[in-house]
Amino acid sequence: MQLLELNIEYRVIFGISVMVLLFAVFLIVFITSQRKKLQYHKELHALHEEQQQHLTQHNVLLEKRVLERTAELQQQKEEAQTSLKELRAAQLQLVQKEKMASLGEITAGIAHEIQNPLNFVNNFSEVNGELLEELERELKSGKKEEAIALAADIKCNLEKIRHHGLRADSIVKGMLEHSRVHSGQKELTEINILVDETLRLSYHGRRAKDKFFNAALETSFDESIGKIEIIPQEIGRVLINLFNNAFYAVAEKKKLQAVGYEAKVLVSTKAVAPLPGEGGVVICVKDNGNGISKKIVDKIFQPFFTTKPTGEGTGLGLSLSYDIIKAHGGELKVETKDGEFAAFLIFLPKH
Ligand SMILES: Nc1ncnc2c1ncn2[C@@H]1O[C@H](COP(=O)(O)OP(=O)(O)OP(=O)(O)O)[C@@H](O)[C@H]1O
Ligand SMILES: [Mg+2]
Repeated sequence: MQLLELNIEYRVIFGISVMVLLFAVFLIVFITSQRKKLQYHKELHALHEEQQQHLTQHNVLLEKRVLERTAELQQQKEEAQTSLKELRAAQLQLVQKEKMASLGEITAGIAHEIQNPLNFVNNFSEVNGELLEELERELKSGKKEEAIALAADIKCNLEKIRHHGLRADSIVKGMLEHSRVHSGQKELTEINILVDETLRLSYHGRRAKDKFFNAALETSFDESIGKIEIIPQEIGRVLINLFNNAFYAVAEKKKLQAVGYEAKVLVSTKAVAPLPGEGGVVICVKDNGNGISKKIVDKIFQPFFTTKPTGEGTGLGLSLSYDIIKAHGGELKVETKDGEFAAFLIFLPKH
């Protein structure tokens, strides 16, 4: 019995010891796992810190690059602005040059126009000088009838001198009229007269530059047009450019095809009414030069587009003409067949 009690005591002690041991093992395992967790969090934190540091460094680098790029862009913008300014100045210069070129052609045309009556005046004055000497001789020798006949001749010549003098006078007046219109104001203008005058000026201007140049000019003016409100100086420039282009085109074709080719420039005006109450006039300038190929026809109204050799054309003629016609509320169109003809049509509204 005593042995049995002892055994129970041992067993209790043993049981408690086992429990304590188990608890200790559990505690050790728990503490170890908590330590590992802590260690893991620490490492994670360190990694995070490191990444944060990297990010900050990266940001600083990026900001630096953005600043550099902005400075670069700013510089490029300034450079582009300077180039734009230079281009604008060059464009202005070219426009001025183009104006001077057409002025030169007008002057050459006018000089030719004046030269003609001046030649008559000079020749008839010379003849009259000789006739007067003869009259003196006849009078001295008492031949009254011959003297009277000579006096009649002299009178007739004087009338011719006066007639051609008046022609020169009207040309000079016309010239002054041209320069007067520089005001840039719209005024009622006889379209047919303007077209005819500018056509002759352009033709003689061309012939003054190239003695061998000639072309058949065919005109057909609609007399019902009357006066239209335009800036004559500006429309005159458009016409001069179209005529110059046409004369250039036929001259080029002639160079390549001298035999059997007759250079022709046809100019016509016509009153039209495209819409009710919107009357106007169409001026057509057509030449039988080489026409304009499909490849370039879309580009001819662009500023600086030219197929002429350097120094012969600025390529501003048609683009300026287009702007002038648009500013008049009109339209400028082209019709062409490659190798055969080119026709430019200007529509100008009456009001
Ligand atoms: N009648 C025409 N026949 C054939 N091509 C033409 C004719 N008119 C214009 N062109 C073409 O259109 C281009 C542009 O004409 P634009 O009048 O604008 O300039 P440009 O005559 O070359 O030079 P600029 O008028 O400044 O002297 C010409 O170079 C030419 O190729
Ligand atoms: Mg031109």
